[in-house]
Amino acid sequence: MISYEITETEFDKISKFVYDQVGIHLALHKINLVRGRLSKRLRHFGFNSFTEYYEYLLDDDTGEELLMLTNEISTNVTSFFREPSQWEYLEKELKRVELNDKTKKIRVWSAACSSGQEPYTIAMFLLNNLKSPSSWDIKILATDISEEILLKAASGIYSSEEVKGLPKNMIAKYFDRVKIPHKEGIDFEYKIKSIVKDMITFRKFNLVHSSYTFIKQHTFNWVFCRNVMIYFDATTKNKVVLNLVDKVKKDGHFFIGHSESLVTMNKSDIKMQAPSIYKKI
Ligand SMILES: C[S@@+](CC[C@H](N)C(=O)[O-])C[C@H]1O[C@@H](n2cnc3c(N)ncnc32)[C@H](O)[C@@H]1O
Repeated sequence: MISYEITETEFDKISKFVYDQVGIHLALHKINLVRGRLSKRLRHFGFNSFTEYYEYLLDDDTGEELLMLTNEISTNVTSFFREPSQWEYLEKELKRVELNDKTKKIRVWSAACSSGQEPYTIAMFLLNNLKSPSSWDIKILATDISEEILLKAASGIYSSEEVKGLPKNMIAKYFDRVKIPHKEGIDFEYKIKSIVKDMITFRKFNLVHSSYTFIKQHTFNWVFCRNVMIYFDATTKNKVVLNLVDKVKKDGHFFIGHSESLVTMNKSDIKMQAPSIYKKI
């Protein structure tokens, strides 16, 4: 297999392009990671150098290659009911919403939804915890930069491994089990039921570059922006958080990942309730 070399100049050009387009900050110590991950793209096109690849990236008006590149250097890792303390917090918060919200509307944004486990968790959580879910008008917006991952999310099909962490009664209630032939016998896959799926709209959205104006201010009860800001530098993170918080309703909540932090930010609009949980004030 050909091994490609990358010069610092080539790396700087690619990392600047990625930063400008997607907000992902690739520091120089990531040079080997980038070389390793992107070598398969060079091989795919039959390019001989990272310069040829960079030129192709610049010329690609479809943005497809930028997506492929983003998928290679970022991770889509996710799971159902990730960050358990947030769901415990939300059980109490949902009771407050049920008591006080006369609009009978719940709006939620899963802003880097990956393969869908996050928005489906939100939907299942609401169906399971609201006293009378059918009397609420619920809409969940689920967005991600990657079209490929959104296709998987919208299919709502998961392997036995992927649903393993879910309680058995939830799997029975919200998934159809489908038999699939397998080399060593029979395996199953799990297809999310339409009662859950119909609550969600999937849409491509780049947190760094897309325009936020298609959503009105103060729209959402909850915005989840979890485990994506790890890729952003402070400036990008500030911009993204301000844009997202602007869309949260008063007394609504903003959630980040546990390994993320907003300590360096000016947080006049939000107040920390617990690590990774913020309330709009
Ligand atoms: C690690 S996953 C997090 C999934 C989920 N939020 C969670 O916490 O389990 C990160 C996701 O962020 C997406 N992503 C990366 N950069 C993005 C950007 N600029 N705008 C929107 N999504 C982005 C990736 O495609 C990936 O699906």
